[in-house]
Amino acid sequence: MNAIANQVVIVTGAAQGIGECIARHLAKQGATLALADIQAEKVKAVQQSLSESGGNARAYFVDIANVELVKSLIQTILKDFGRIDALVNVAGLDAPAGLAWEISETEWRNVIEVNLNGQWWMIQAVLPHMMAQRRGKIVTISSVSARQAFPQHTPAYSAAKAGLIGMTSSLATQLEAHGILVNCILPGMIGTGTDIHMTQAEKDLYQQQFPLGIVGPAPVAHAVSYLLAESGDWISGTAMNVTGGLLKGI
Ligand SMILES: NC(=O)c1ccc[n+]([C@@H]2O[C@H](COP(=O)([O-])OP(=O)(O)OC[C@H]3O[C@@H](n4cnc5c(N)ncnc54)[C@H](O)[C@@H]3O)[C@@H](O)[C@H]2O)c1
Repeated sequence: MNAIANQVVIVTGAAQGIGECIARHLAKQGATLALADIQAEKVKAVQQSLSESGGNARAYFVDIANVELVKSLIQTILKDFGRIDALVNVAGLDAPAGLAWEISETEWRNVIEVNLNGQWWMIQAVLPHMMAQRRGKIVTISSVSARQAFPQHTPAYSAAKAGLIGMTSSLATQLEAHGILVNCILPGMIGTGTDIHMTQAEKDLYQQQFPLGIVGPAPVAHAVSYLLAESGDWISGTAMNVTGGLLKGI
């Protein structure tokens, strides 16, 4: 069952960026994909392009911050595919700007609502099914910012991303007896999300901080595959740095 080709995998945030890259990478390996995003048309376009090249995927609208929509998404996916082997939580607000002395209550709550609570609603909604089948893998995308912040990003972003590390270790501890493995990945600067709005000078500045350079989302997709395949069968509770060498020894 742990060959990726045999798995039904949910990928949130699959309409663009890292989520789309992960979806394309898993599709190449033969996974059956449930692609979910708040951008309904864009995620449909990704699904269509995957289906045209022989992939088995369906597209779904979801706002991960809305617990009722999340619950109904999981029920629909179970109806469509009969089971869920893995959840890859990618959807999120990528590194919004915000200075501590300026951000409003609404801005703070919005980031926490999507980047922390939204991941939780998705995980909690798949758990009854994974626990019943006594098997499952959950991978959540945190960020380098959980451990090393950048001055322009809102503190809410670092708080949410660090929260995902704690959530991962707690869930891994509670779920190991149920056959469910839980990990998170901390990508460095990827060149998607808010990064695409950066000037060349800003990109050059960042480039110097990442010893292995900025190479796009593929390394994150490879890390997800590693965890979902048999190679990840003895790994749970990890916060995996995929940061181009920026984070070391933690
Ligand atoms: N880009 C980077 O350098 C980088 C680095 C570290 C971590 N990350 C994290 O990786 C994840 C993806 O980043 P990205 O660069 O692909 O960003 P992106 O903005 O290109 O993609 C994010 C996706 O999530 C979807 N989304 C946003 N809010 C949603 C919601 N409430 N419900 C459902 N879908 C929603 C968006 O529609 C979009 O398709 C984010 O969690 C981000 O914080 C990104």
